[in-house]
Amino acid sequence: MNLLEISDLHVSYDGIKAVKGIDLSLASGEIVALIGANGAGKTTTLKAICGIVRARSGKILFEGEDIGVLPPHGLASRGIALVPEGRGLFGRSSVEENLEMGAYSRSDTEIAHDLEKIYTLFPRLKERRKQAAGTLSGGEQQMASLGRALMSRPRLLFLDEPSMGLAPIMVQKIFETIRSLEGMTILLVEQNAKIALSMSQRGYVMESGKITLAGASGALLENPLVRAAYLG
Ligand SMILES: Nc1ncnc2c1ncn2[C@@H]1O[C@H](COP(=O)(O)OP(=O)(O)OP(=O)(O)O)[C@@H](O)[C@H]1O
Ligand SMILES: [Mg+2]
Repeated sequence: MNLLEISDLHVSYDGIKAVKGIDLSLASGEIVALIGANGAGKTTTLKAICGIVRARSGKILFEGEDIGVLPPHGLASRGIALVPEGRGLFGRSSVEENLEMGAYSRSDTEIAHDLEKIYTLFPRLKERRKQAAGTLSGGEQQMASLGRALMSRPRLLFLDEPSMGLAPIMVQKIFETIRSLEGMTILLVEQNAKIALSMSQRGYVMESGKITLAGASGALLENPLVRAAYLG
């Protein structure tokens, strides 16, 4: 059984169709890329999976359970975390408070230990832990947002354009970290098709609300249509 299985997902905003019947699956341990241009429907797909917007129709199964009906706060305890587009930090709260919020659904005794692990992963966040998250650089905010998601100990992680607006060196750092998250199942949404496909085992190409191509990432990187449209 796939960890995540989406079938015939439709999402509309006030009658305007943003996602038009997509099928998408993730097996346990896979990194899968979802690429596509501006407005293709990538974020809307993630929002529907995470209960931030309601699907008009379709099925979203996580370990066989229909999670399409859950509110967003029902996901963390099931092991699902989202690093949203724009990072979604609480700008006036400190870095550490933001990280701790990621653990809100946990009641175990290892939260402090995991916080230290995040600081080992991103020493910069430790240096800035008392600072308001809104005062961090873009790259540091991306680290904090990823760190917050990891604090929930997810098994399934959604990343919405983690490279957006970051300097190349920072993009490299973020993706190195993502690659080091062994065993985690990841859906990586990116406009940066090259980096997303080189990081993933499989990929989906989304255009105007539909999946137009899917396959092994290596093959997509070589595909003339993908090259012409996304790898310029
Ligand atoms: N809150 C909203 N209300 C109305 N329309 C929306 C809303 N959010 C997105 N849309 C529309 O839905 C479509 C899909 O948008 P979406 O944000 O999912 O695309 P995307 O692939 O994530 O794009 P980007 O790469 O720019 O983030 C677009 O036509 C967009 O204008
Ligand atoms: Mg988006």
